[in-house]
Amino acid sequence: MSRKLKAAILGFGGIGHHHAANYAGQKDCQLVAVADSCPARLQDDSAEINLGASGKTDLACLRRYHSFESMIKQEQLDFIDICLPTDLHAKYAVKALRAGLHVLSEKPMARTLAQADAMIRASEETGKLLMIGQCLRFYPCYEALKAACDGKKYGRLLRLSMQRNSALPHGLNDWFRDGKRSGGALLDMHIHDTDFVNHLLGVPDAVMTFGCTHYTGAIDDAVTHYIYDGGPLVSAETSWSCGSFKMSYTAVFEEATLSMDGDVDRISIYRVDQPPETVEFSGNGYANEVAYFARCILQDRQPQVDSPFSTRETIRIALSEERSARTGRKVRL
Ligand SMILES: NC(=O)c1ccc[n+]([C@@H]2O[C@H](COP(=O)([O-])OP(=O)(O)OC[C@H]3O[C@@H](n4cnc5c(N)ncnc54)[C@H](O)[C@@H]3O)[C@@H](O)[C@H]2O)c1
Repeated sequence: MSRKLKAAILGFGGIGHHHAANYAGQKDCQLVAVADSCPARLQDDSAEINLGASGKTDLACLRRYHSFESMIKQEQLDFIDICLPTDLHAKYAVKALRAGLHVLSEKPMARTLAQADAMIRASEETGKLLMIGQCLRFYPCYEALKAACDGKKYGRLLRLSMQRNSALPHGLNDWFRDGKRSGGALLDMHIHDTDFVNHLLGVPDAVMTFGCTHYTGAIDDAVTHYIYDGGPLVSAETSWSCGSFKMSYTAVFEEATLSMDGDVDRISIYRVDQPPETVEFSGNGYANEVAYFARCILQDRQPQVDSPFSTRETIRIALSEERSARTGRKVRL
């Protein structure tokens, strides 16, 4: 049996705690350390974010540091799991890759395309793996949609509609509320659906986004039509002005409709004149993405499900959506 890879989380805030909870039970890797520049965060054994409670992490088993630099000086790590504010993903991913570590980084890949390109360049030059945690690609209820679409199980996809709404999040120092750092709801939250559309159908021919800014100076409320010439009708909506978090999708195929209505552990399948069928799932995208990344490292192969080239294209699509919202025009990709 191969040894367990040693991982550390950089940025032990809201999602850092969610990631920590998902290392419990990993077969191929273990979390050995965390680093955060805020001392109080290193004392919290759990966190509450718009996704809910993280679950408790046993802090006694983790070595804790105040900076990336002090952590890598002391630890013999295989990979870093970056859970920093969005505008810092590229800076620390490049540092970590150049320090000889593989990198799993939270979404969105980066705030700009130039930053995403710098991350890819550092991965290519060092030969270290880079993967972005676009967790929907690893959620069973979204994997079922991808499998149905690829395998044409219910015929062709005719229409897909996705939703992702929440209250305005608050990170440490309220960096979420500075659109230059977070990219607003469009780059922060809606990016999940943009990425899944890209994963499912590839880069669209054009996007038309109706959106407005509200809190951050970036786009905080939007509806996008992803235009595939001769392809299915695809749209996604997002808002940071809703009371609680909810994600859902409706996918209309020729022979059935698949629907996930907020509960990621089940989908409904509707067929004309037949009783609805329910399919249940277990497991979550965060644990699955960590397991997948660790397997890629151990097998010395590039991540295929979630390649950095593909998530870089997701950033290109999202920034085109932002341009469309700001200009009121369709943007071709
Ligand atoms: N995949 C998902 O579902 C999901 C959900 C929430 C957030 N996210 C993403 O995760 C990232 C972090 O979001 P969050 O909600 O955890 O934010 P947060 O503000 O709660 O956490 C960020 C942490 O980084 C720390 N930090 C900042 N600069 C640092 C530095 N230079 N060195 C060490 N620590 C530093 C902060 O002290 C803070 O604890 C964002 O990019 C966000 O988009 C993803």
